[in-house]
Amino acid sequence: MKAVPMGTALQRARTGQLMRLAGLMEPQRVLIAGEGDGSFLLQFVQLFPEASITVVEPSQAMVLRAQTRLRQAGLFSERIVFKVEPLMDAALVEASYDLIVTLFFLDNFEDSLMRASVSKLNACASEQAYWLLSDFCLPSAGWRRLRAKLWLKVLYQFFAFSAGLSARALPDFEQALQTTKFCEIHRDGHCGDLLFSALYRAE
Ligand SMILES: C[S@@+](CC[C@H](N)C(=O)[O-])C[C@H]1O[C@@H](n2cnc3c(N)ncnc32)[C@H](O)[C@@H]1O
Repeated sequence: MKAVPMGTALQRARTGQLMRLAGLMEPQRVLIAGEGDGSFLLQFVQLFPEASITVVEPSQAMVLRAQTRLRQAGLFSERIVFKVEPLMDAALVEASYDLIVTLFFLDNFEDSLMRASVSKLNACASEQAYWLLSDFCLPSAGWRRLRAKLWLKVLYQFFAFSAGLSARALPDFEQALQTTKFCEIHRDGHCGDLLFSALYRAE
């Protein structure tokens, strides 16, 4: 396994399914929960300039950074709407989005809020929607599992201390996804399976 800096691995995980997605569909209405600073959004808009995108991101600082990136790239557009509030507070039309995007988002929540978020996103998705999901994961066995456990412990302690994150461990969002209309159709591991990126389709 070739060593790759964590920032590079994260960006690969965020964007690793984009070309596959482009071969499957042309997103029209996209819902991105917890976009952060626009690292994904910028590449997404370059690939799908016609998509209408709703970004739900409660951090004003992150929204400003994302908007600045878009402006600098000449990609700022009224087709991209920012809702600066938590997902559970956002008024979103049900069954109206053909692509849901959650990148390093579901790992932020303890179990009940994660499940409520998955349920709300599922309700917002149309019948033929796709869901792009990247996050941390816990391999099922072996040294990779031990390594992931150690990394996740350090990361959760760090973010609890530095950002007041209330989650203390990786919630089982993959199990929560199984209670929705979505099925996983492709998955790649990154960074020795500490990270993954997956594409789901509503069945
Ligand atoms: C770990 S960061 C991930 C950001 C980005 N998606 C990425 O791949 O780096 C989590 C993001 O979710 C946002 N967030 C936290 N709670 C949220 C909520 N309840 N609803 C929507 N976004 C939220 C944070 O402000 C932050 O930008």
